[in-house]
Amino acid sequence: MNDRAALNPDTFPEPSTLEVLILPHDLRKRVTQIAEAISHDYANEVVWLVGVLKGAFMLTSDLARNLTIPCQIHFVQASSYGSGKESSGQVQLDNTLDVSGQHVVLIEDIYDTGNTLKRVLRDLRQQNPASLEVCTLLDKQGSEKHPVEVKYLGFEIPKRFVVGYGLDYAERYRELPYIACLD
Ligand code: XMP
Ligand code: MG
Repeated sequence: MNDRAALNPDTFPEPSTLEVLILPHDLRKRVTQIAEAISHDYANEVVWLVGVLKGAFMLTSDLARNLTIPCQIHFVQASSYGSGKESSGQVQLDNTLDVSGQHVVLIEDIYDTGNTLKRVLRDLRQQNPASLEVCTLLDKQGSEKHPVEVKYLGFEIPKRFVVGYGLDYAERYRELPYIACLD
């Protein structure tokens, strides 16, 4: 993408013009509650937070700083969207972790079709973790989904394309401290 396209307000509207779906205050409150639940469920353990890059980087870090138990922080890289708004269905995974014998909470930004979660879970399960649960900030309603058991859920959202708090459109908007709609 050239510089002109990167600055084009038709391609990338100003954040202030976007419809806000979840406010910073509500994100903070919910993330704190999830961190409390994880701290309770893994009391006396060292939990491994495994974030799916890049979308889950902010949630992973906010969860980590609100835990009251020890943790390790790891990431795997998965991508299915490219730079468009529709899932390509093809998940590329870069996972060099070894989670065998560890208590793992896999952290994803959004459960849309579940393609990404299914792919990453399959990979991690093969390594025989002591336990493996899923945390996702958003669950997009109305998508045709691979069934995935989500233990820690932030918010259900309508079938909109959303950005912010880690979620991007063509690598933009990840830094926003709220979730906004781009469609
Ligand atoms: P699947 O379909 O694999 O999708 O469950 C999960 C991945 O797709 C991306 N995704 C989105 N990214 N706004 C985004 O910025 C959205 O509304 C959206 N829906 C899905 C996301 O990267 C996620 O990991
Ligand atoms: Mg993305």
